[in-house]
Amino acid sequence: MMGLFSSNKDENKIDTNKVTKNNVNSLGIDLGTLNTVIAKPSGDKFDLYQIPSVVSVKKNDPSSVLAVGEEAKLMLGRTPEDIVALRPLKKGVIESVVQAQALLIRAMEIGKKEGEKVGRIVIGVPGDSSEVEKNAAEEIGRKAGADFVLVISEGLAAAIGAGLPIAEPNGILIIDVGAGSTDLVIISLGGITDIQTVRWGGDDIDNNIVKLVKDKFDVEIGIHEAEQAKINVGLVKNSKDLEILTMETIGKSVKTNRPEKVVIDSELVSEAVEPIISEIVVALNQVLERLSPELIAGVYHNSLAVGGGSQLRGLKERICDEFKIPVKISNDPMTVVAKGAAIVAAEPRALEPEVRLAGFK
Ligand SMILES: Nc1ncnc2c1ncn2[C@@H]1O[C@H](COP(=O)(O)OP(=O)(O)OP(=O)(O)O)[C@@H](O)[C@H]1O
Ligand SMILES: [Mg+2]
Repeated sequence: MMGLFSSNKDENKIDTNKVTKNNVNSLGIDLGTLNTVIAKPSGDKFDLYQIPSVVSVKKNDPSSVLAVGEEAKLMLGRTPEDIVALRPLKKGVIESVVQAQALLIRAMEIGKKEGEKVGRIVIGVPGDSSEVEKNAAEEIGRKAGADFVLVISEGLAAAIGAGLPIAEPNGILIIDVGAGSTDLVIISLGGITDIQTVRWGGDDIDNNIVKLVKDKFDVEIGIHEAEQAKINVGLVKNSKDLEILTMETIGKSVKTNRPEKVVIDSELVSEAVEPIISEIVVALNQVLERLSPELIAGVYHNSLAVGGGSQLRGLKERICDEFKIPVKISNDPMTVVAKGAAIVAAEPRALEPEVRLAGFK
């Protein structure tokens, strides 16, 4: 069922005792395209849970949610023809309010104890979400039963979760490489001063791997195998000599329709990654063009890559090659947004400057 992670308190540099003392029933939720992560403050750590962002519905009635999360994922490809498994979010944006609500209700059930009511939830949404999208997320949270719902940008939540000095008047750069999209966020004085979203992410890399393997070997592999190749032998082209790794997998021969072995290497994956990385490079160029010189030193010292895709080998080196920015890769890239949201849920005043200064240094 759901995954339970352990969390490392040193990574967060934040005394969550301070921020949790006023509240017990608070949750931070990162409603992602692929994964929904739930963080519940617990003493000086977080209890973390993860569910796939998948629901199953009747084909002719997409608002009739039959199963959510792991259960819905198991139905993928194995269901009768009138049932389909879908993702309520596409490219980071809520596509179906009813389906996203079902996902959020499940997330809240998982995060709270039996019989407990959720007081406050904070939901991380992509930073470029429109007011309409933000209101929809808030509405969904309230309908799902929370007393207090706050929607904050995932980029800001990531910075808070990582314990970065968000209150200072220096710049912070967050690069969030998700499944459906990549957000580039500049933070200063506790707020977002610039954001640019590239509607490309890890999912697109997987699709490119499938295409390249088909072109090269006349073999069609499954999207899951493509994702495994990305995770196991993935590489971003850069100036350093990083090791070329290989992975064997099985696909379906286009010519014979029989199973056929293929060997996927880091070079093939780096080719699949390149169109996405190029878009990210173009976008980051634009962000830096707009950046005030007052913030460049802060960005140099405080750049953090988060999101599952930030774990791609060579990403750090490539960003350093292109931009001379020594970006750090988060050591909890897939949970840091939910952790930051949970900190704000426990103490919404965490977003106010004087509290930030007191509690987050
Ligand atoms: N070690 C790894 N190397 C490269 N990619 C990885 C690795 N681990 C996970 N991923 C990819 O990270 C993506 C999921 O990341 P994450 O959970 O941050 O996305 P999300 O929050 O659900 O999506 P979004 O932010 O776009 O809504 C997937 O594409 C997954 O394949
Ligand atoms: Mg995300």
